[in-house]
Amino acid sequence: MSTGKFYIHTFGCQMNVHDSEQMAQILSDAGYVKTDEADRADIIIVNTCSVRGKAAQKAYSQLGRLKRLREKRPDLVIGVAGCLAQEHGTGFFRRAPYLDLVLGTHNIHRLPEMIEEINNTGSQVVDTSFHESVRSLGIRTLPPDGNVSAYVTIMQGCNNFCSYCIVPYVRGREESRAGGDIIDEIRFLADNGIREVTLLGQNVNSYGSTLSGDTDFPALLRMVSKIDGVDRIRFTTSHPKDLSERLAGCFADLDNLCEHIHLPVQSGSDHVLKRMKRGYTAGEYLKKIDMLKSACPDISITSDIIVGFPGERDSDFQKTIDLMKEVRFDNVFSFKYSDRRGTASEGYDGKVEEGVKSERLYELQALQESNSLEKNRCLEGIVKDVLIEGVSKNNDADITGRTRGNKIVNLAGDIGLTGRTVRVRIVQAHMHSLRGEMV
Ligand code: SAH
Ligand code: SF4
Ligand code: F3S
Repeated sequence: MSTGKFYIHTFGCQMNVHDSEQMAQILSDAGYVKTDEADRADIIIVNTCSVRGKAAQKAYSQLGRLKRLREKRPDLVIGVAGCLAQEHGTGFFRRAPYLDLVLGTHNIHRLPEMIEEINNTGSQVVDTSFHESVRSLGIRTLPPDGNVSAYVTIMQGCNNFCSYCIVPYVRGREESRAGGDIIDEIRFLADNGIREVTLLGQNVNSYGSTLSGDTDFPALLRMVSKIDGVDRIRFTTSHPKDLSERLAGCFADLDNLCEHIHLPVQSGSDHVLKRMKRGYTAGEYLKKIDMLKSACPDISITSDIIVGFPGERDSDFQKTIDLMKEVRFDNVFSFKYSDRRGTASEGYDGKVEEGVKSERLYELQALQESNSLEKNRCLEGIVKDVLIEGVSKNNDADITGRTRGNKIVNLAGDIGLTGRTVRVRIVQAHMHSLRGEMV
């Protein structure tokens, strides 16, 4: 058995968070002990994201800090994992010569043996090879610190190649996990006190396309919903082009499927959507929204939007604003377009100036803030089911949880309620959370 303490710092999306949980699991299984203090660790892994320039920058700054720690502690093992590691491979060693390990997105399962190799030989180790089947898909983990909610990966990779996006290059081709494995893992989670599962994939709506049977995503959801003990099911992310009537029907039929969908639109302009290679028009997107709202009138809808995509004119941006006014999203994650190496749009003309991107982002976020607040105000006075997750981040005396629509609710209550679903009257709406009282 190996000994020593490890610390993992995670950047990026929920998939990366779950990958870090898996790394923690296999390191623990190999005898290492997790610590929350980087200063005390013998092994530090930075799990990185490269979706935008800013995300990559955050990882580089973190590594810069670790360099100083390494100078004080020459025996420290420092590794970089995740999408930026996959992107740069051995190139990372030139940028950061003090690194011991570069671990690509398909090779998480090899982490313990790679650390052993570093300890035995003192050499730098890298593995960014891609495999048809990703071994880490099956690593089971329980989320840390008594969380009641867990992630379950149902597919990996992406075949869509939206023109701005690096994900297909750093995560590889789409691969769906066998339905039986997914169900077994969720049963295991439910038996261990997990009440909510979030099914993860870059494009969950195309689940099943690489499997031999005829299980597609709606069929998988129906199977998951029958598992005893799972009170709530969520999933992310859906691609609008693959959202079917049958998926919308699941929101009407399945009691434990939460009334929330994250459906990234990216832009409201057909001219921009076409250049993004998204495969739908604004009109088609709006029809899907109507379909969802008629299946489930209460559904909460969130989205991602990019401003300043190459060739985006003022009139295109206004179409995005118009679409936001029409849909009235519950929340929007908005980003300035960022060139990514090797993507199609890196070579597009019509690059938008930074200042213009900032102005557009500001206008979009101001509109969303008022939409979010207005939507939350509609909930004042209403009683909602809230799954309690633990102590509130803002105030130790409060507990916190989420509605089925994925809104954060803070309230006075006993920490012993963690993992229980309680009835809560919403008494005050804020932009990003709600205040409630138990009824
Ligand atoms: N698989 C998900 C999104 C993954 S990336 C999907 O298809 O929706 C998360 C978000 O980052 C994207 O929805 C997009 O809004 C944003 N994003 C991706 N590449 C970007 C880029 N080059 N510049 C700015 N934002 C980007
Ligand atoms: Fe990127 Fe498009 Fe795939 Fe999402 S669907 S991960 S935006 S290429
Ligand atoms: Fe970032 Fe990779 Fe996720 S690029 S958004 S961590 S899939």
